[in-house]
Formats: sequence, C-alpha cells, structure tokens
Amino acid sequence: MNKQKPIVIGHRGAAGEAPENTLASFALAVEQGAEGIELDVHITKDGEIVVCHDGTLDRTTNGSGLICAHSWSDLKSLDAGAWFSEAFRGERLPLLREVFDLLPRGFFINVEVKHAYEGRMEKALLAFLRESGRMEDVVISSFDHKVIRRIKQAEPEVKVGLLYAANLIDHAAYTGQMGVDVFSLHPHHHCIEQEDVAAAIASGLAVYPYTVNDLADYHRMLASGISGIITDYPARLRELLDL
Ligand code: G3P
Ligand code: MG
Repeated sequence: MNKQKPIVIGHRGAAGEAPENTLASFALAVEQGAEGIELDVHITKDGEIVVCHDGTLDRTTNGSGLICAHSWSDLKSLDAGAWFSEAFRGERLPLLREVFDLLPRGFFINVEVKHAYEGRMEKALLAFLRESGRMEDVVISSFDHKVIRRIKQAEPEVKVGLLYAANLIDHAAYTGQMGVDVFSLHPHHHCIEQEDVAAAIASGLAVYPYTVNDLADYHRMLASGISGIITDYPARLRELLDL
C-alpha cells in the first residue's frame, strides 16, 4: 500500500492555463504548488535539446516544419505563446537547460523522449544530465520502451519510466521484460485499475498516470493509491490534496 501523499506533476507545465512547454507554463506550475513537471523534448539539427510536444513547429509556434530540420539559431526567436493567448505573446521555445535553470533543485522533472533521432537524443540527453548534476531529480519516460532500455543500459544512475496507453494484463510483470531496472509506470489514466496500481506499488514501482484533469478522475486515481498525478491543472489538484 502506498502511504505517501501523491505528488502533483504539471503536464507540460500548467498546460491548461498557459502555453504548454514554455517557461511561463513551468513557472505557473511551480507557483500553483506542483512538486514536479512533465515536459517533452526534441533535438535540433545542431544537437540542442528543445522543449516542445510536437516534432513540428506549426501548432504551438509561429514557425513551421520539423524541429530537427532547423538549427537552434533559427528557432530561438520564434513565438511559442501567442497561439494560446495574446497575454503570452513573446514566450519562446525553451531549451531543456533553461527549464532546469528555472526549477529549484530537488524539483521532480519528468523528461518525455518523443523520438530517438537515431540515438542522437539519448546521447545528448545523458550528456546534459551528467553535466547538470541533477540526475536525481529526473525520470526519463517514453512510449518507445526500447529507447528507455538503451538509456538505462547506457546510464544506470538515471531513473526511467514506461509510458503506455494499454490496459496490460500485468502492468508490474511487463517491466520484468525490460531487462533493466524501471523506476515508474506512466499509464494513461483510463488504462490502469486499482488492483494493478496496488500490484505495481507493492513491487516497488512508482505510478504516475496521465493526463488527469477532472475532479472525478482525480478521486478515482487517488483512491487507487497512485504515487503522483500528471495534470494540466496543478492548482486544481493541489487544492484537492490540501483539503
Ligand atoms: O508524459 C505523459 C504525457 O505527456 C504523454 O502524452 O502526448 O501528452 O506527451 P503526451
Ligand atoms: Mg508528454
């Protein structure tokens, strides 16, 4: 049984109230009492790690095309806030380093790897984490479990988590097939039941369902004993947990 109070993890910062994956969004998550944030990463042509959900610029910036087809110098002045609302015009695409600089030490950072980029992402990410001295704060997750396995094999110190959106027969047992030590499960909240959470927690895994935004879903997840919740509305969940 998980006795610890679940942590609030701001999805792409506080994506319900600020443009996702921007410094404004991460700052808002901190202000709203989140203990952690989730973010997504891609890599530029010249090897910089950029925080953005999509591999393309079109939806959340005034640029277009693939992030990996551009150098950072092409991307650093793009607007990543105006699409969300005028109040956020001037927000930029952040580098991973800039997000780390914004967040206090000890703050939980869930880095979601969207693509392997032929191995370039894991190399760049591990080099960055080693240099940051903040390996302990980080959990790297991905829907690509082979990437996760390679990352853990390359750097045993880093914590890794499995993202998925399927109601597995045995969530905890699946991690055994990975052949590396898995720290956490990150299931879609519709894909994990109370008994699965209990079994996962009992086997030493943390469970962080995504992306939970409604009150009824918060209650359902909290009742199942999860370790933390990934939400677009950190303030909403914070308020519920502090009642
Ligand atoms: O990491 C949880 C969640 O972010 C996974 O899906 O598409 O929102 O990145 P997505
Ligand atoms: Mg994500």
